Amino acid sequence: MFDLGRAIDALLPQAKGKPAAMMHLARLMRRDGQHQRALVACRQALALAPDDPDLAAQARAVLGAGVPSWHFSIVRDAARNAAYDAALRRAVRPGTRVLEIGTGTGLLAMMAARAGAAEIITCERDPIIAEIAQEIIARNGFADRVRVVVKHSDALDVAADLRGPVDLLISEIISNDLLAGDVLPVHERAVRALLKPGGGVIPASGLIRAALAEDLRDETAGLGVIDGFDLSPFNNLAPPSWKIRVDHPSLQLRGEAVDLFGFDFASGRYCAEARVSMPLQSFGGRVTGIAQWILLQMDDSGSYENTPAPDAQSCWAVLVYPFPRPIETAPGQRVGISASHDRHHIMIWLDDTHLDGS
Ligand SMILES: C[S@@+](CC[C@H](N)C(=O)[O-])C[C@H]1O[C@@H](n2cnc3c(N)ncnc32)[C@H](O)[C@@H]1O
Repeated sequence: MFDLGRAIDALLPQAKGKPAAMMHLARLMRRDGQHQRALVACRQALALAPDDPDLAAQARAVLGAGVPSWHFSIVRDAARNAAYDAALRRAVRPGTRVLEIGTGTGLLAMMAARAGAAEIITCERDPIIAEIAQEIIARNGFADRVRVVVKHSDALDVAADLRGPVDLLISEIISNDLLAGDVLPVHERAVRALLKPGGGVIPASGLIRAALAEDLRDETAGLGVIDGFDLSPFNNLAPPSWKIRVDHPSLQLRGEAVDLFGFDFASGRYCAEARVSMPLQSFGGRVTGIAQWILLQMDDSGSYENTPAPDAQSCWAVLVYPFPRPIETAPGQRVGISASHDRHHIMIWLDDTHLDGS
């Protein structure tokens, strides 16, 4: 069977000193999962031809492959950053040892260092992101207190990697529906195995919030007849929810926000799958689905919420779960919905079966 790793090793001596060949090998190394070698090969190629724009573009493609573009927007979310920074300043004491799950750029780890933490261990599952984060941390003068460990948090060993349980656990592995980043299993394991009993957790808890909404975008309405052809069966393949920016003018809330599910990240206890059904009262008007967003309770004093509003800004999108068809509602009319989560994802749907008299 063809062995890509052996082929790369065989080609390496011939590629030495040749920038294009070295970049080609970097691409193969990335494909073969040899992330750190790919980074070194990219840098060698660029050093051989620093002014070659083709090579620079290829290097970005090789290194950035698989790195989500949201890394560039989350660090620009000033409210998110301020919520973490304030919570860290409240939690960190002289001597505090911190574990961060999910280094990314290293921003939160450096905030913890700036707040005065004695030691920060930050784990990152992506080796190329980890390597670049190390460079950023050194560039900003925090390499003496911030240590990047290239591991998924589940693989961290409390003695070998942390030199004992930490005082404070921080993370920002939160997705638009709160749960998709494995936030529940990751916290349950980390709190039990890596944190001192009673240690701090930032964020301490989270809520999934929702409201009746109208989404005016064409692309989220179901398919019908297009160019004379009935495409409606394709609606069976539609995604359960559609992302929309918090300030998008096409999103109108049609009712008060409700809390669907709450999660305690700090307890370490297993959080079981759950389902709820409830009536939502409409302000009146056309309702096309349910808008869902998140609230992060950083600690007893601070929180972050990406509530949709015309002047709001957030790196987290709102998710709209569309109804099978729009409903024209009167003010005060109750619309029944159900929601469930399986610890990893949530679902929300129109469900009038539990409303009195329906
Ligand atoms: C949303 S980013 C946050 C980056 C940075 N902490 C910040 O808040 O700006 C999450 C990062 O954590 C990493 N990650 C997610 N889950 C992880 C886990 N359980 N263990 C290690 N790294 C993880 C991802 O690869 C990604 O780089």
